[in-house]
Amino acid sequence: MRLVFLGAPGVGKGTQARRLQEEYGWTVIATGDLLRQAMAEGTPLGELAKAYIQKGELVPDALVNQLVSERLQGLEHFVLDGYPRNLTQAEMLERILPQPLDAVVYFELAEEALIARLSGRRICPACGAVFHVVSNPSARGELCDRCGTPLVIREDDRPETVRHRLRVYQEQTAPLIDYYRQRSLLRVVDAEGTPEEVYQRLQKALL
Ligand code: AP5
Ligand code: MG
Repeated sequence: MRLVFLGAPGVGKGTQARRLQEEYGWTVIATGDLLRQAMAEGTPLGELAKAYIQKGELVPDALVNQLVSERLQGLEHFVLDGYPRNLTQAEMLERILPQPLDAVVYFELAEEALIARLSGRRICPACGAVFHVVSNPSARGELCDRCGTPLVIREDDRPETVRHRLRVYQEQTAPLIDYYRQRSLLRVVDAEGTPEEVYQRLQKALL
């Protein structure tokens, strides 16, 4: 399967992509995760990306296009989480894919629910595990239940940055819904309910 996950910040793209990876072994390419990793390692890419991510702006297309095209080489089954994020990236993706996409999954959720998911998110800075203080707490409280590292709030999950990310999403990313609908690739998944309920819907949508 060659999939793109589309949807607003906090809708649960990363959570669902990880499930597909665990069940089927498909490779997840999450541009946000790759950029945060580069920031943590202090690489030149990370240094460049930092200012954009902290403000909730998109990182320049050339940087993310390069990041994705390197990783797509030779992959048969993949989930692109967080890419493409505007029309330029979508056109670039069409050019770099050796074979066309099978589907673009659009996760749909009301804005209040997105904000509730983002405001309660905690992440492990060491292993990348993602928790939620209410819906998916770590069994070890403030520590990661996989590796024991103290959990942190993602820097761009502060309320003012969240508002800006939602605006950027509406302006730059949401137009991709029609772009992929016109290409008959769009599968809409209702993202309300528990992660398990959403996963069941996702699997049905991919049949
Ligand atoms: P990125 O990391 O891609 O962030 P995003 O798209 O804003 O999405 P999130 O990761 O915030 O949400 P998610 O949908 O993955 O939700 P999650 O599963 O974590 O991008 C960050 C930044 O990087 C961008 O702002 C930009 O600067 C840059 N960037 C990245 N890609 C780029 C690109 N292509 N071009 C340019 N710049 C780029 O879930 C959220 C929370 O909800 C968690 O706590 C989770 O536990 C919980 N949860 C999940 N599912 C459920 C459920 N069903 N019920 C209850 N809680 C749930
Ligand atoms: Mg994510």
